[in-house]
Amino acid sequence: MKPRVTAVVGGQWGDEGKGKIVDYLATDSDIVIRAQGGDNAGHTIRNEQGKFALHLIPAGIFNPDSLNIIGAGTALNPKTLLEELASLEERNVDTKNLLIDPKAHLAFDYHRVLDGFQEDARGDYKIGTTKRGIGPTYMDKAERIGLPARLLLNPDEAIKKIEFVLERKRRAFPSLADKDELQADYYRDLLEQAKNRLQDIIKPVNSIIHDGLVNGKSFLIEGAHGALLDIDHGTYPRVTSSNSTVGGLLVGSGIPPRYLTKAVGVFKAYQSRVGEGGMPTELTDTLGDKLREAGQEYGTTTGRPRRVGWFDLPAAQYAHQINGFTDIAITRVDTLSDFDELKLGISYENGEFSPDDAELLKRKAIFENYEGWGEFKATSFEELPESAQKYCRTIEAAFADAKLTFVGTGQSREALIVL
Ligand code: GDP
Ligand code: IMO
Ligand code: MG
Repeated sequence: MKPRVTAVVGGQWGDEGKGKIVDYLATDSDIVIRAQGGDNAGHTIRNEQGKFALHLIPAGIFNPDSLNIIGAGTALNPKTLLEELASLEERNVDTKNLLIDPKAHLAFDYHRVLDGFQEDARGDYKIGTTKRGIGPTYMDKAERIGLPARLLLNPDEAIKKIEFVLERKRRAFPSLADKDELQADYYRDLLEQAKNRLQDIIKPVNSIIHDGLVNGKSFLIEGAHGALLDIDHGTYPRVTSSNSTVGGLLVGSGIPPRYLTKAVGVFKAYQSRVGEGGMPTELTDTLGDKLREAGQEYGTTTGRPRRVGWFDLPAAQYAHQINGFTDIAITRVDTLSDFDELKLGISYENGEFSPDDAELLKRKAIFENYEGWGEFKATSFEELPESAQKYCRTIEAAFADAKLTFVGTGQSREALIVL
């Protein structure tokens, strides 16, 4: 049997509803892998077990038959992971099917302190990071002074390495040198707790993945953030620090590219962005407030109000160019029910989509109007109001070679039309 490998990627600037799509697809997946990013991600899941906000653990954790892996490309904060495990266990979610690739890089509180400090010092170049220390963790990894997760198995060695790192940080950032988070001792308890809880699940995963591929298993790679936040192809410099596109998911999971069978791009029927940067279709008026409230667009990770706007076709087409989606999901079609008239950003007055954020900030969207659709109940695409069908098909037509496969009609797992 041939293996199936499906990558799920956000098509916009994050929060497209990836968690919900992954939760659905995981019901039919043997192995679910988080491949990049860290606890800057917030994936909301609503299923029969309740409502959950996951930051590090793959959404396949709710399927007792899926093995879940936190992959090599992730920035893994052990404190967040312990909290997330405890909160799932408190709610009787079985967490035994979880493995951590020993090559994942650890994020600590010193990374958070540095993230906050660097962000505050950026002035006009502010990014609006989640302050989870993700940028500094990947910086250390690239500098080759990061701590791979395997060091959690050996707290003494980990402390020695942390002291080596912090000695450099204290010299580089003298105004932070006295902070508790920049002293190695601060991490002793955490390292002991992490060893106790995680020692059996930090295991080499490459043979497991390879055997799964050879034996025709189904894989799901859960993307974090969105394509436009990709460090190489996103709206630099206002991006995250990992590759959140399909290519990054393959590298971060360790699945050889030849095995990829599907790439699902998840898009909201409108758009949101958290943090600074260009967003040509942004609504900054009361209509925007109405959309933010209708969608309860507040960050899962930071609680920040998300910037909202109409769907941006040129941006979506760019996301398709860098991902090669085979399938498209359009979520939150129900959220637009309250609007009599909708708009779709079809082009810009002054140029093309640009991944140069300074350039994108200058773009002004040109819109096409669409008739709204009001409240509806639909379990198939044909049951959707005609105007909603037309709106979705117009978006689908913008993606050459990709077909519309999912339409989100509500928050629950069931509120999903599969075409
Ligand atoms: P992610 O980061 O891409 O996983 O998305 P988030 O979880 O941060 O934000 C998406 C939000 O939209 C969550 O609150 C989901 O429960 C919700 N959601 C996802 N799909 C739909 C949908 O089709 N309709 C509605 N109303 N909400 C949805
Ligand atoms: P999910 O997986 C929305 C944004 C931040 C900021 C920029 C850099 O839930 O879709 P970082 O902390 O990563 O250095 O911040 O990236 N960002 C997200 N925005 N959803 C996310 O994840 C995000 N992850 C990062 O707001 O603008
Ligand atoms: Mg999110």
